[in-house]
Amino acid sequence: KILVLDFGSQVTQLIARRVREANVYCEIHPNDVSDEFIRSFAPKGIILSGSHASTYEDHELRAPQAVWDLGVPVLGICYGMQTMAVQLGGVVSWSDTREFGYAEVRAHGHTKFLQDIQDFATAEGHGMLKVWMSHGDKVTALPPGFKLMASTPSCPIAGMANEEKGYYAVQFHPEVTHTVQGAAMFTRFVREIAGCAGDWIMGDYIAEAVAKIREQVGDEEVILGLSGGVDSSVAAALIHRAIGDQLTCVFVDHGLLRLNEGDMVMEMFAGKLHAKVIRVDAADLFMGELAGVSDPEQKRKIIGRLFVDVFKAEAAKLKAGDGGHKGAAFLAQGTIYPDVVESGGTKTKKATTIKSHHNVGGLPEQLGLKLLEPLRELFKDEVRELGVALGLPHDMVYRHPFPGPGLGVRILGDVKMEYADLLRRADAIFIEELRKAVDAASGKTWYELTSQAFVVFLPVKSVGVMGDGRTYDYVVALRAVQTQDFMTAHWAHLPYELLGKVSNRIINEVRGINRVVYDVSGKPPATIEWE
Ligand code: XMP
Repeated sequence: KILVLDFGSQVTQLIARRVREANVYCEIHPNDVSDEFIRSFAPKGIILSGSHASTYEDHELRAPQAVWDLGVPVLGICYGMQTMAVQLGGVVSWSDTREFGYAEVRAHGHTKFLQDIQDFATAEGHGMLKVWMSHGDKVTALPPGFKLMASTPSCPIAGMANEEKGYYAVQFHPEVTHTVQGAAMFTRFVREIAGCAGDWIMGDYIAEAVAKIREQVGDEEVILGLSGGVDSSVAAALIHRAIGDQLTCVFVDHGLLRLNEGDMVMEMFAGKLHAKVIRVDAADLFMGELAGVSDPEQKRKIIGRLFVDVFKAEAAKLKAGDGGHKGAAFLAQGTIYPDVVESGGTKTKKATTIKSHHNVGGLPEQLGLKLLEPLRELFKDEVRELGVALGLPHDMVYRHPFPGPGLGVRILGDVKMEYADLLRRADAIFIEELRKAVDAASGKTWYELTSQAFVVFLPVKSVGVMGDGRTYDYVVALRAVQTQDFMTAHWAHLPYELLGKVSNRIINEVRGINRVVYDVSGKPPATIEWE
């Protein structure tokens, strides 16, 4: 296994991810763990992360001595390279100009680390790498025993190696995908240089995560808010695997879920996994409070507040315990790594609120519960892989995202149960057809080719003709987008035949809807949801 020592870089989790992708187990720990910890961890290799700090100024931020005493290969990245240089007798110079972004690095010295790894070769035959750089300080003198491994015009020592000891260091960031050969470099380091077997798979993560959850929870009880979404579902399945009936899931059904969604969640978790799930039927409460409210922000706030109220009331009951139960001590959440980064304040806070998102951030403190977040280190695609490994159905785990306020933001203006029922049926038809339609060029279904697709209910009526009769019914809009990060999105170029089929089916099968339109707006300027 590999030990990643974190010096506080934004992208340390990416290092862990690349190591996992090389099928090697790793753990991230803070840079100031004790020498004893490192010895008992017994890593086959150690990776030192980047940092925002400067080796030049911050004399505290060093790798523990055990890193150098253990006799295992070490890879230093960015700051990790600089601290390696400083600690082993080299020199780092401070610079007030930062080098940031794409760079082309020339490989030197035929090191094991870079051997046969290159993006292109110069006319003189030098191996070149396309990399991503982000640094101010740089190493200006190699430590004794080191040789030059890579350079750029502005950073003459962009990589160094002491091959005898298995020490390698790079100033650039191999963990970001912009560094084209990054994955190859990690595989080289963890498998060939550190000698890890490369037989670790996501399924192995389960045993480790289960052990950690058991250790953290002991014989206490845990509450989890189950939404039917990917993250909370995978968290629930994982925690249930670890502690069985010590977990109780609370599933708040606000009446604004997709067709049969509530029953499907119950069937999966209560039925198949035999987990304890409390389904709170709060549709009447939500509908009642939403009646007559048409402002999108107000609707969002009402739904968010009611959701928290209902969940808190259930959680308080569970916390109090009853005859057979001691009461819950933990609140579990399906927080995943991108959420951690986001709440860490790395994304700039927007000056204006575009939409008030569901926020359950303060819940654990308000309830006096400890937090259990077993997915904190994983990226979305890893969470999905884990879900499949835990036996959750592929369709559930690879479902498009669904907003917390549910259909409440897909029914424009006033929310009524009548509208929600029409929308649910239309939406189910759209999704069914997307799942069936295969794009010949890619061999993928249009459900897979879109990031999010759904139907929006427009509370306006238009005239139509069906059979010999006149109709005067509602309009729905189809929305399908393609995006990487949901911050910007393109509308999907769905085939006309598919759109036509969906339109026909909705109008024929859902009485009350006689017109279907397609939303061809990108984000920006439109948003993905209509409210
Ligand atoms: P917009 O509409 O802002 O949506 O382009 C971007 C993504 O966020 C989802 N979304 C939400 N997710 N709670 C959520 O959990 C919310 O309140 C919420 N509002 C929007 C939306 O579905 C899209 O994927």
